[in-house]
Amino acid sequence: MALERTFSIIKPDATKRDLTGKIVAKFEEAGLRVVASKRIHLTKAQAGEFYAVHKERPFYDELCEFMASAPIVAQVLEGENAIAKNREVMGATNPADAAPGTIRAEFAESVGENSVHGSDAPETAAVEIAYFFSGLELVG
Ligand code: CMP
Repeated sequence: MALERTFSIIKPDATKRDLTGKIVAKFEEAGLRVVASKRIHLTKAQAGEFYAVHKERPFYDELCEFMASAPIVAQVLEGENAIAKNREVMGATNPADAAPGTIRAEFAESVGENSVHGSDAPETAAVEIAYFFSGLELVG
């Protein structure tokens, strides 16, 4: 299979606890190379635009508040089957359901404050990468 790229966010609950290095180590150990990375502090409006697909969900406002509550680290990860591999390394959305050894099992605090986001399909990966990075910032 060809190399694939996926989009990742290390969320405020994790940056606040200085878990960025430990989380990136999990990506790299799984064969996911960081080809772009930036630490930024989103506004609530920017978080809301990123998560617009969840606009009608009851947790949308809480999610946007949380994502704007502290810095995030936005990254592009590259590797064989990167989208599925990243989802495997992250574990289930709810840390209570996440397999042992996954990022969410080890670090997440709740379903809302679950340490990482990862794209769920090639189409969303392309849109999410383009929201945060220009082509010139992707360095393979
Ligand atoms: P993420 O993969 O970033 O995609 C959408 C996010 O919504 C998800 O991770 C969770 O952090 C959040 N989310 C999903 N379900 C709930 C919930 N029941 N309550 C609060 N946040 C949620």
